[in-house]
Amino acid sequence: MCGIVAYIGQREAYPIVLKGLKRLEYRGYDSAGVALINNGLQVYKKKGKVAELENHVSGKDMRSHIAIGHTRWATHGEPSDRNSHPHVSGNGKLAMIHNGIIENYAQLKQELLNQGHIFKSDTDTEVLTHFIEEIQKSNHCTLEEALRIALKRVVGAYVIVIVDEDNPDTLIAARKGSPLVIGVGKGEHFLASDASPIVEYTKEVVYVNDYEIAIIKADELILKNISNERQTPYIQKLDIELAAIEKGGYDHFMLKEIFEQPQTIFDSLRGRLDAKNGTLTIGGIREHAEMLSKAKRIIIVACGTSWHAGLVAEYMIEELCRIPVEVEYASEFRYRNPVVGPGDVIIAVSQSGETADTLVAIESAKEKGAIILGVCNVVGSSIARLSDAGAYTHAGPEIGVASTKAFTAQLAVLCLIGLKVAIVKGSITQQRFQHLLDELDHIPEKVAAVLKLNDRIKEIAAKYKDARDFLYLGRGYNFPVALEGALKLKEISYIHAEGYPAAEMKHGPIALVDENLPVVFVATRDSYYEKVVSNIQEIKARKGKVIAVVTEGDQVIPGMADDIIMVPEADELVAPILSVIPLQLLAYHIGVLKGFDVDKPRNLAKSVTVE
Ligand code: AGP
Ligand code: GLU
Repeated sequence: MCGIVAYIGQREAYPIVLKGLKRLEYRGYDSAGVALINNGLQVYKKKGKVAELENHVSGKDMRSHIAIGHTRWATHGEPSDRNSHPHVSGNGKLAMIHNGIIENYAQLKQELLNQGHIFKSDTDTEVLTHFIEEIQKSNHCTLEEALRIALKRVVGAYVIVIVDEDNPDTLIAARKGSPLVIGVGKGEHFLASDASPIVEYTKEVVYVNDYEIAIIKADELILKNISNERQTPYIQKLDIELAAIEKGGYDHFMLKEIFEQPQTIFDSLRGRLDAKNGTLTIGGIREHAEMLSKAKRIIIVACGTSWHAGLVAEYMIEELCRIPVEVEYASEFRYRNPVVGPGDVIIAVSQSGETADTLVAIESAKEKGAIILGVCNVVGSSIARLSDAGAYTHAGPEIGVASTKAFTAQLAVLCLIGLKVAIVKGSITQQRFQHLLDELDHIPEKVAAVLKLNDRIKEIAAKYKDARDFLYLGRGYNFPVALEGALKLKEISYIHAEGYPAAEMKHGPIALVDENLPVVFVATRDSYYEKVVSNIQEIKARKGKVIAVVTEGDQVIPGMADDIIMVPEADELVAPILSVIPLQLLAYHIGVLKGFDVDKPRNLAKSVTVE
């Protein structure tokens, strides 16, 4: 949700900031803007993608050694030039970019209006800019001091970065709730919402913590907490390479990421799973496995695709560990005053590790004494840092807004966690344990086999791309896969799609079925298979069009369905890792055939850092 970039140092700042905005554009793309200092403060901003901004400034003198840039995902005020960031203070001296929401902005705005401030935008951000200016003026204090006072009154989440025309050698930044990484170079600093704009310049980074203020000069980084006490910046080494954040010959990041899955699933298992020797090591939960095996219940909190991974994990963990599992939408969990406390284990699943709904849910559960395990993809992310223990999914940077490779890596890691707890608890036989280790071990090569179906899936996509609605059905482990297939299609093709448990379909959605409705069945061979076959009959009897994902060698469903996609045989526990891949490809091809920008679907953003 919004990308922030800033630079201070000896180089030309604008090209660095512009390139950084392009890398962060997946986080928000309603508008883009930059501010720099060149004969005074210069601010340029434009509705639309970063390329529009680039055109807008072409030919202008953009020389400066300090600059801030923003690509927006609007929360307060429509996407427009005037609502774009940076926002400028009333005296024209401060320019600010902001990621997040100032929840009490309306009250602050009223106070400022009473004091004679005039606003040019509808944003909460502009209000904060004027608020800081007002404090600076009335208290006769430095910008840093004014910021500290302002932030004590601000309710909400933010990363902000400010440039001040009167101090052209300093950037000031602050964070609460939204992510901020500072890259430390030689005589230069880079600021960004994630590491992708930084990685080509330096591998040394500092993750700013909540309630910290950073005062950044070319050759100096000062971190302070909100009480004005100096903090020692903890410099960490980035472990991502530039290639991981570039398209590498694919038309879209989404396609690249779908095709990376044999490798990313392998990476998520690497060093953990040793099928040959029948062992499983998950360093991040080693000390907690015993405690987990004794848990009375496990609550999984997540959003979107990660929530779907949580649903699969519910089936896995209940079966393997015989521990009751609840899966909660993080946003609902937080605000309904849940019964949670010491003895409860929360597993937070999140690709980005920055999703605000998930973050606040685990914050409140932690305050109540629950143990938090994080299953995150982004190393060093807020959720990972807040967790007591956990396991990274190691899928590498996911840039496509529609999550694909992160999902399959989450499934693999959650399965490993379930297996580990089960073996510690003794709720699984050695034989079943070994069988599932072997099954996981073979998953990457089976995923590679599924990807060979790409051309066939593209043909199916062409056949159904003009449908107005889709239904996705599955049972058991394949029910969450159906939900995920529907979400993928909605996100990138803007076709209405619903996922349902296949049997539940006859309790209502069946009323929608006619010859125009494509129904995607996830019907691999498992303990629900016979029942799903009956559900397919029910759809066919009403002339629905059936596209079925089935197990290789299936003799029954091909005789009933209109289109068939065959995936390799796998134990039902790990089958979702295979059966979701055709659905990712189907959504991708339909989105592309309809002419949409599948990497940046409308209204969405990669990392939802507002509640
Ligand atoms: C997935 O395709 C979505 N764009 C979205 O639902 C996403 O899964 C959700 O916002 C959660 O994100 P997270 O995994 O980074 O927490
Ligand atoms: N709330 C701010 C706005 O609407 C910032 C949104 C963002 O994070 O991009 O402009």
